[in-house]
Amino acid sequence: MNVAIIPAAGSGLRFGGEVPKQFLMIAGEPILLHTMRRFDRCPAIGGIVVALSEEAIESFGRVIDGAGLRLPVRLVIGGRERSDSIRHGLEAARAWAPEVVAVHDAVRPFVTVEQIAAVIERAREVGGAILALPATDTIKEVDSGMIVRTIDRRRIWRAQTPQAFRYDLLWRANEEARAAGLSSALTTDDALLVERLGAPVAIVEGSVHNLKITTPEDLLLAERLFERERG
Ligand code: CTP
Ligand code: MG
Repeated sequence: MNVAIIPAAGSGLRFGGEVPKQFLMIAGEPILLHTMRRFDRCPAIGGIVVALSEEAIESFGRVIDGAGLRLPVRLVIGGRERSDSIRHGLEAARAWAPEVVAVHDAVRPFVTVEQIAAVIERAREVGGAILALPATDTIKEVDSGMIVRTIDRRRIWRAQTPQAFRYDLLWRANEEARAAGLSSALTTDDALLVERLGAPVAIVEGSVHNLKITTPEDLLLAERLFERERG
């Protein structure tokens, strides 16, 4: 089977506030639960692992118990960096002997069932696949406030999640990044770790709606998108 790994152990420094952004409520439910429901509805997924901070694990466990999800859920304690949270998630997923794991940010609640299925299917074929969006702006390389050159926009894509990989491939990529002591600035994305191994990773075209809630402005936009989906 295939397993979703949802890292949700971050503290949301850029967003600010008391409560980490993944637990803020939209339409009566925490953002993280909205995200989990997308995976719960996807027939390609057989189980969900969520990485949470130690403080959140008990209370969010109760939220999940009452949520009526179809799939089995395992909660694990996250780590200091996102890649540590992913590693803990991979360890917990191992009991299910997953073929493919789909890693997805807790704060991207608008991913669709079709997008999840398409990324998993491509990862089964290629080894790895991610949702990404073609760049629409012209992209400049800049040094000290001056343009160095213009980069061919047709070759620039913005990485989103889900990012799906054959289990063993992502495990090896994560281990090797750890052994190399890769800095946290470079471990914001799982594809990068797999690319370092020289393994191919395919692109599946995403959508602007699959937004990541990073700042309070993103939350306003997310609330409006939810209203539109419901209305
Ligand atoms: N994440 C995690 N463990 C960490 C860091 C991040 O599980 N040690 C998760 C976040 O909870 C989020 C996802 O990784 O679901 C994407 O990270 P990001 O949007 O950067 O969230 P935060 O790291 O919480 O925010 P910030 O970088 O602004 O502090
Ligand atoms: Mg972060």
